[in-house]
Amino acid sequence: MEFCKKYLAEVRTQTLYREPVSYRFLDAVHVSLEEKTYLALSTNNYLGLTHSPAVQQTAMDAISQYGTGSGGARLTTGSHPLYEKIEKALAVFKGTEAAVVFNTGYMANVGTISALAGKSDVIFSDELNHASIIDGCRLSKGQTVVYRHTDMDDLAGKLRNTPCQGRRLIVTDGVFSMDGDIAPLDKIVALGEAYESMIMVDDAHAVGVLGHGGCGTVSHFGLQGKVAIQMGTLSKSLASEGGYVAGSQELIAYLINKARSFIFSTALSPATVGAAYGALRELQGNSELVEKLLGNAQYVREALDRAGVAVEGSTTPILPIMVGKASLAVEMVELLKEEGILVSAIRPPTVAPGSSRLRLTVSAAHDRKELTQAVESIIAVSRKLKLI
Ligand SMILES: Cc1ncc(COP(=O)(O)O)c(C=O)c1O
Repeated sequence: MEFCKKYLAEVRTQTLYREPVSYRFLDAVHVSLEEKTYLALSTNNYLGLTHSPAVQQTAMDAISQYGTGSGGARLTTGSHPLYEKIEKALAVFKGTEAAVVFNTGYMANVGTISALAGKSDVIFSDELNHASIIDGCRLSKGQTVVYRHTDMDDLAGKLRNTPCQGRRLIVTDGVFSMDGDIAPLDKIVALGEAYESMIMVDDAHAVGVLGHGGCGTVSHFGLQGKVAIQMGTLSKSLASEGGYVAGSQELIAYLINKARSFIFSTALSPATVGAAYGALRELQGNSELVEKLLGNAQYVREALDRAGVAVEGSTTPILPIMVGKASLAVEMVELLKEEGILVSAIRPPTVAPGSSRLRLTVSAAHDRKELTQAVESIIAVSRKLKLI
């Protein structure tokens, strides 16, 4: 295992070594570690629903009714009826004929893209798409053409100049996970129509955030019926785990029969699906949750902006503070930790070398007073590190 040792030594030298940390969750946005309490400012729990009593009750009821595990893959052993409930609810929420749940968002992307693009097909993928999209492209037998981030001239040129014997698929994050900007889906759809391409949007960070009632990017741009493949996760605003694809009956039946990450993996547990179902009901029943989230995000964005802390390009609750060097990002995280604030340092390989950043995410569960204090600390630390 000398190669492991060598690799680990290398990443340590570059301040890129990472390890999982466990906290005690006190509620959706407060955690404790070694007697100290922290404000979590990097969570994807956008609506704070992980700690909603109603959502927790749905998960507990699911265990009481159906047990703790699902016992096998859905196509081989069958599974609990919560799947049908949530898939119907997701299809209604996304305005499609049908939906299918995968075990993670990662598996939804990998399984769907590799099932859709075969040997003679071409996938056009934004350069900042999530790793699970990139891995889906790698796993598919089609050719992948990467276009510059949200650059529609580049996409148009690549669509025009890339020979394709089979199908074309354009795939994009709806909200980019590390930058918080929104894909120009209206323009992508127009190009998709011009070049007869299927469109796939990953709404992992758009559900609960964008569109009518938080239903995502398609609704945000008023493009109902124009995006064939809407992928999403149950792991962020929907406070559980899992991923899904929503689309036509035919697409969903095709994925069920073709996507290997769906076919060859044990189904999610009743508690997991139950929690997501409960969270979806909460989201649909409380429009003020999305409003509160967006209000909190705007408040933090404007306060940082006034102080000269650049939150580049983001119009969503994902607020990236660009610092450049990985070591500087780590130093900033440590200084904020001393102030009782937990944020993540995002470094290569998650982002390109030289573009390390702090990824702040705001939640509806944050309280304004605490956000004010957190912003003051971020400004003070930015001054200390001469970032402003
Ligand atoms: C844009 C995007 N797509 C897909 C995923 C994968 O989702 P999951 O964490 O549910 O596997 C993530 C999250 O990590 C993401 O940010």
